[in-house]
Amino acid sequence: MTEVIDGNAVAAEMRSALTDGIETLSDAGVRPGLATVLMSDDPASETYVSMKQRDCEEVGIEGIHVELDPDAPAEELFDTVADLNDDPEVHGILVQMPLPDHVDDRDVIRAIDPAKDVDGFHPENVGRLVAGNPRFKPCTPHGVQKLLESADVDTEGKDVTIVGRSNIVGKPLANLLVQKTDLGNATVTLCHSRTTDLAEKTRRADIMVAAAGVPEMVDGSMLSESTVVVDVGINRVDADTDKGYELVGDVEYESAAEKASAITPVPGGVGPMTRAMLLYNTVKAASQQESVDVELP
Ligand code: GUN
Repeated sequence: MTEVIDGNAVAAEMRSALTDGIETLSDAGVRPGLATVLMSDDPASETYVSMKQRDCEEVGIEGIHVELDPDAPAEELFDTVADLNDDPEVHGILVQMPLPDHVDDRDVIRAIDPAKDVDGFHPENVGRLVAGNPRFKPCTPHGVQKLLESADVDTEGKDVTIVGRSNIVGKPLANLLVQKTDLGNATVTLCHSRTTDLAEKTRRADIMVAAAGVPEMVDGSMLSESTVVVDVGINRVDADTDKGYELVGDVEYESAAEKASAITPVPGGVGPMTRAMLLYNTVKAASQQESVDVELP
């Protein structure tokens, strides 16, 4: 039997577990604050940001949302980030990516106070992660680790193949999984668009993570029996539905599920965990900035 790993349920448990920390902060007179900044009219980005704000409300985090015209000068975004850096009620800052072409996303990431960088994208935080001393684990990779843990999938000594080398998922996940820690100690193969014989690498995997942003690019023929399959992709593809599209992952679900011992669905797998781990990082950020000890799940 293939286990379908229920990301909605694991994320709900995470949110519930975080409320203890939020209560501890509240007892100390601190309400954690998360600022989201949207400079895009991409419907998917708008949806993600509004879901993040809704999550904040549900758990008792103060959500601050700033929306900028995608055609506004880059300076407006830098001024916004500077204001949020200086605001003591804001403990975490998330600038939704991708940004318009005229804004350099690396400059924006560097402008965020690393102590408030709940995405974990600032070079200081990337460096700490690579060195094995993370301040904030990036939300999607951390969510993948928590999903594996929830399904009792140990990573120690396992061959993990990651398809996709993004700064948001592939690279930080590879770094987390090789660390000498729980949920680490794996042997990681990091694949990308120039990888030769991709199927040989995915078939070798005990755990295969697809994070390339290409709809259904990994199918069952590329997997060995009993592989644990983690699908990070969330792709909108045209479909004859009310909305005119449907969501599919980077994995062709039906054929992959036939081979997998466990698999994450899309939607309802990694996506909810990314959002839950953003709340986790916001609670951690508030705890650090306000010097209030909080037990994190
Ligand atoms: N766009 C897609 N995923 C992410 C993410 O994890 N953080 C930010 N800031 N933007 C994103």
